Amino acid sequence: MSSKPLKQIHLAAHFPGVNNTTVWSDPDAGSHIDFDSFIHFAQTAERAKFDFLFLAEGLRLREQGGRIHDLDVVGRPDTFTVLTALAAVTERLGLTGTINSTFNEPYEVARQFATLDHLSEGRAAWNVVTSWDAFTGENFRRGGFLPREDRYSRAQEFLATAHELFDSWDGTAIAADAGSGTFLRDARAGTFAHRGRHFDIEGRFNVPRSPQGRPVIFQAGDSEEGREFAAAGADAIFGRYGTLEAGREFYADVKGRLAAHGRTHDRLKILPAATFVLGDTDAEARETAHEVRRLQVSGQTAIKYLEHVWNRDLSAYDPDGPLPAIDPEPGENTIALGRASVRQFRDPLATARRWRELAGAKNLSIRELVIATTAEQTFVGSAATIAGAINDLVQADAADGFILVPHITPGGLDGFADSVVPLLQERGVFRAEYEGSTLRDHLGLAAPAPAPAPAPR
Ligand SMILES: Cc1cc2nc3c(=O)[nH]c(=O)nc-3n(C[C@H](O)[C@H](O)[C@H](O)COP(=O)(O)O)c2cc1C
Repeated sequence: MSSKPLKQIHLAAHFPGVNNTTVWSDPDAGSHIDFDSFIHFAQTAERAKFDFLFLAEGLRLREQGGRIHDLDVVGRPDTFTVLTALAAVTERLGLTGTINSTFNEPYEVARQFATLDHLSEGRAAWNVVTSWDAFTGENFRRGGFLPREDRYSRAQEFLATAHELFDSWDGTAIAADAGSGTFLRDARAGTFAHRGRHFDIEGRFNVPRSPQGRPVIFQAGDSEEGREFAAAGADAIFGRYGTLEAGREFYADVKGRLAAHGRTHDRLKILPAATFVLGDTDAEARETAHEVRRLQVSGQTAIKYLEHVWNRDLSAYDPDGPLPAIDPEPGENTIALGRASVRQFRDPLATARRWRELAGAKNLSIRELVIATTAEQTFVGSAATIAGAINDLVQADAADGFILVPHITPGGLDGFADSVVPLLQERGVFRAEYEGSTLRDHLGLAAPAPAPAPAPR
C-alpha cells in the first residue's frame, strides 16, 4: 500500500451568477442581488469552514442575435462592494473577486484589493482574468483597443505593477507616535515608479501594507499563455476540468510548468469549478439531476448554445429535432456577445463534427445533445457518494479541491454543508475548524516576502 499522506481538500463556494447553471425559475430560488442572498450564501460557506467565497465577473450584459440574453439571470452587482460588505458579516471566509486586467488600471485595482485585505483582516484574493473583447470594451471607451495576443502581456505587467504598489509600503512604515507627533516613520512610504509598455506611472500609493501583504492571486483561462501566466505567478487556478482524466492531465501540465519558474509543486493550487446534485440516495440524486439538467437547458437555451458554436442564427430550428445539416460560420463569433470565450469553441468545425457523430450514434435531439455535452453535473449522489468522489479526485491529483457552484441561489449550499462536509471531516481530509485567520493560511500558502525597502529618491 502507498504511504502517501492524505491531501487536505480545499473547498470554496461560487455565488451562482449569470450562467444557465443557475435555475432562477425554481420556487426555492431567491434574489441574486439582494444582500440577504449574499449573507445567506457566505455564512453557509463559513459555517462549513470553506476556504473562500468566489465571485465571477462579466462587464457587459450578454447579447445574442442582437438582443439581451435573458434566458439566464441578467445583472450583476459590483464585486468590491459585495465583498467588502461580506467582510463585515463573516470572520474567516476568504473573499475572492474576479477582476479584469484589460479594462482596468493597476492603481485603482491595487487600491481596492489592498483595502479589501485591510477591511477583511487578510482574506482578499484576486482572480485575474483577461477577457479582451471589443463588445465589452465599449463600456469603457476601450472597444477593441487590445489585440487578443496581447491580453496576457498586459495582464503580466498589470500584476507586476500592482505588486510594486502593494510593496511600496513596508510593514513598519507607520509609527503613529503621539509623543513625538510622528505618524509616518518612513517618509518614502508609497513611493513608486513603473515604466513599461502598457503602464507608465509614478507617484504615491495611498494604502498602507495590508495584512496579507498582497492578495492571493488566482488565474482563470485555459490557453497556453494562460497556463504559463498561472505557473509564473498565481497562487491558485480556477479551472474547468473536474473529471478524473481531464483533471489529472491539466493538473500534471500546470504543476509541471512550475519548476521552470523556480516554484515548488505546492505553490499553486488547482481548484476546478464543480456542480453537484445531492439526494438521500444515489438513485434519488440521479433523478433530481436529470430534472435539473432539463431546467438548466430549456429548448431555447439549447438553440442559443448551438448558435455559439455555429455562429449563425438557428432560431428556426426545432430543439427537439436533429442538429443543423449546415456547417458553422467560420471566423470571429459575432452572434453571442459578452461571453468569455471557451476553448471548445475555438475549432467550431471539429466541435460540430463531433456532436453530429454523437447525436447520430445515440439518436439525440438538439436539446438532448446540449444536455449530454454541457449540463453534466460534476457530483451526483448521496452525501457519502459525493464525499467519496471529491476525496478520490483530490487524492488522485486531479485537483487540490473544488469551487462549488450550486444551482439554487442562495440556499443551494445548505445541504452540502450539513451532510457532505461532516463526512469529509470524519475522513480527516477537511478541516473541522479554521486553523489560521487569513486566506493564505486556509490555502496553505506561504506569506509573500516582506516588502523591499523603497529605493532612495
Ligand atoms: C474556468 C474559467 C472561468 C472564467 N471566468 C471568467 C470570468 O468570470 N470573467 C471573465 O471576464 N472571464 C472569465 N474567464 C475567461 C478568461 O479570462 C478569458 O477567456 C481570457 O481570454 C483568458 O482565457 P484564455 O487563457 O483561455 O485565453 C474564465 C475562463 C475560465 C477557463
